[in-house]
Amino acid sequence: MRAALLCVLLAAPVLLVAGSPVYKSDNGTVPLVIWHGMGDSCCNPLSMGAMKKMIEEEISGIYVLSLMIGKNVVQDTENGFFLDVNEQVSMACSQLTQDPQLKGGYNAMGFSQGAQFLRAVAQRCPSPPMKTLISVGGQHQGVYGLPRCPGESSHICDMIRKALNSGAYSDLVQKHLVQAQYWHDPLNDDLYKKHSLFLADINQERAVNETYKKNLQLLEKFVMVKFLQDTVVDPVDTEWFGFLKTGQAKETETLQESLLYKEDRLGLAAMDKAGKLDFLATKGDHLQFSREWFTANLVPYLQ
Ligand SMILES: *[C@@H]1O[C@H](CO)[C@@H](O)[C@H](O)[C@H]1NC(C)=O
Ligand SMILES: *[C@@H]1O[C@H](CO)[C@@H](O)[C@H](O)[C@H]1NC(C)=O
Repeated sequence: MRAALLCVLLAAPVLLVAGSPVYKSDNGTVPLVIWHGMGDSCCNPLSMGAMKKMIEEEISGIYVLSLMIGKNVVQDTENGFFLDVNEQVSMACSQLTQDPQLKGGYNAMGFSQGAQFLRAVAQRCPSPPMKTLISVGGQHQGVYGLPRCPGESSHICDMIRKALNSGAYSDLVQKHLVQAQYWHDPLNDDLYKKHSLFLADINQERAVNETYKKNLQLLEKFVMVKFLQDTVVDPVDTEWFGFLKTGQAKETETLQESLLYKEDRLGLAAMDKAGKLDFLATKGDHLQFSREWFTANLVPYLQ
């Protein structure tokens, strides 16, 4: 029995190679890559697993790749807290490059922090081409507060909060804590710009990297979903690329009011003018939406 199973497993790759058309969706669906949020993994049957299944039911024949960062689900979950984001992005890039099913391009959907990570993929790895990026509760200008963690990871959450308070921009915390790499302190703007290893880089805070600007504009659409009763993300404006105004922690500004947009350091103003930015809002707490809402509002972007 065991031998027979092994035999099937060993034979499978041979079959795949022999019948090369299996890689191609013959019914015109665009593959979809999804990236999970903090405390979650690629394959949790209650979250990303269910999401993948639902999308496969809605769009028949679609290839959905749920990114796993690491060798297994446990590593994938831990890496969402502790692995340098720049390294995670380059791991994702190499998975995408090596996947023959994505050769012709793909759509991408990121959940929570997975959304800003996928934006970095768009900016840094233009091949294979990302077509539409959907950010579901992403934090494109980072966060300034961690009021609540999703899932059952509250002890980790308390630890993270302590580390962030002790000095989010110290080299040690930056290097080892994912959430520190998108910590955006409006009262310490210089520290943020100088020491944020991930967010300040992809948001062109130190310099304008023309490659980032060019690559992001290759997207056909950049869709941002905001959760109107979000109690996890602070400030919630970051889900639409807005943030707190620099120098204080009360008033917020929209993307369109920001310097990033006014100087168009990332190409977002140009994309907005070209009708490539869609801002969606939905009732509910962080990542809480119904299948009906998803089907009516997001599935059309994936067809
Ligand atoms: C698309 O192709 C897949 C197999 O590659 C098949 O399972 C699916 O039913 C097809 N969908 C349509 C709409 O023809
Ligand atoms: C700009 O981004 C590209 C793509 O990630 C990178 O290869 C390059 O080194 C960056 N340039 C600068 C000046 O940082």
